[in-house]
Amino acid sequence: MRQIYPTQGPELTPVPKARPGSPPAAVQEVADLYGTEAALDSAHGQPAGWLRANMVASADGAAWLNGRTGGLSGPADRMVFTILRSLSDLILVGAGTASAEHYRPAQADELWAQLRPPGAPVPAIAVVTANLSLDPDDQLLTGAAPGAQTIVITTASAPADRKAAVARHGRIIEAGQHRVDLVTAIAELRRLGYSGILTEGGPTLLGHLADAGLLDELCLTTSPMLADGSASRIVNSPSTATDGKTARLSLRHVLADESFLLSRYVREH
Ligand SMILES: NC(=O)c1ccc[n+]([C@@H]2O[C@H](COP(=O)([O-])OP(=O)(O)OC[C@H]3O[C@@H](n4cnc5c(N)ncnc54)[C@H](OP(=O)(O)O)[C@@H]3O)[C@@H](O)[C@H]2O)c1
Repeated sequence: MRQIYPTQGPELTPVPKARPGSPPAAVQEVADLYGTEAALDSAHGQPAGWLRANMVASADGAAWLNGRTGGLSGPADRMVFTILRSLSDLILVGAGTASAEHYRPAQADELWAQLRPPGAPVPAIAVVTANLSLDPDDQLLTGAAPGAQTIVITTASAPADRKAAVARHGRIIEAGQHRVDLVTAIAELRRLGYSGILTEGGPTLLGHLADAGLLDELCLTTSPMLADGSASRIVNSPSTATDGKTARLSLRHVLADESFLLSRYVREH
């Protein structure tokens, strides 16, 4: 694995999983590439905020293979996945992803402890769901570490009994009356102190975040696969389809590992 844009970097061996102790030099080097922009943003003024997405797509643009992302991933993608989680205050996902990918609370031994922001050994998970279709006894809610309670972002009109069941273990944020209002939700997360937000998708949530102008950064792994079939693209944006709305991105770096490409884009304002 090496940086190929904007400059050629040294060859680094991917370290896909975290382990105890100091991160190896390769991990620190890659983490530095992903840390700068968010750190700059939060250096002044608050509540600072940075919302980045980390996604993987096949070479022909598919967001999943057989309903899951695992088949698109590789060692360098897993390395960046772990680094970005380690750098984040909160991981935001849609209910579709939480269910398809069997989300559970982040575990300290799956992160690089020395990359963590001060004060929190693990990032909390936040799930966006208007229907509140989560199982209130799922480990995602019941297994969260103290101080990293799972957050469920829903609407004011979601059924009260489901809210009460979820609130036994999770924290509820209400944002919007009938649809989840993501601008309100992100503002509330910032107010609670989560400035470095990482979204891991899926495509529907990313589409809504992009439409609301909330997405600052896209970290994209392009996987050397042709997926064919009917999989969604990584951003499934209702308004791109209807209004032709687009956002321009600026390329910050590209890493290459075997036939995988790992790009980091920042949205131009
Ligand atoms: N390629 C990648 O990097 C990547 C990353 C993540 C996931 N995936 C794949 O994507 C698939 C899931 O895709 P998806 O698009 O259905 O998942 P998603 O974006 O994670 O979830 C969509 C769901 O989020 C809830 N939601 C509520 N309010 C919303 C709002 N304002 N904006 C957006 N979502 C809101 C809705 O659930 P309720 O019905 O509960 O209200 C909605 O059905 C899985 O196959 C997964 O493996 C791929």
